[in-house]
Amino acid sequence: MEPPFVAVTTTSAIQSGKFIRVVVEERPYIIANVDGQFYAVEDTCSHEDYPLSYGCLDGDRITCSLHGSRFSLKTGAPLDEPAETPIQTFKLAVADGWVWLDPTHPAAQS
Ligand code: FES
Repeated sequence: MEPPFVAVTTTSAIQSGKFIRVVVEERPYIIANVDGQFYAVEDTCSHEDYPLSYGCLDGDRITCSLHGSRFSLKTGAPLDEPAETPIQTFKLAVADGWVWLDPTHPAAQS
């Protein structure tokens, strides 16, 4: 993979239904595996800047452990109050057993 993609983990390091926290250039991200599909989102809740990595996955959603808002890993959209603002999603690529993150570009919203 060419820059700006950065290898952040191996695919085998994250079991389906799990996520890990990675830091790239001092910024934390969540890399999640949902049934073999990998997603990257910022590790910061849009409600009160709390780490989402303290929360848990529920399918393709991540739940903030502070006040319970859930966010779509696909779009970053908040699904419950009190959060009202999407979190940022990022492009990922999988190649040669590695997960590559493009920290420069939000993923396409769908
Ligand atoms: S800090 Fe995440 S819902 Fe309040």
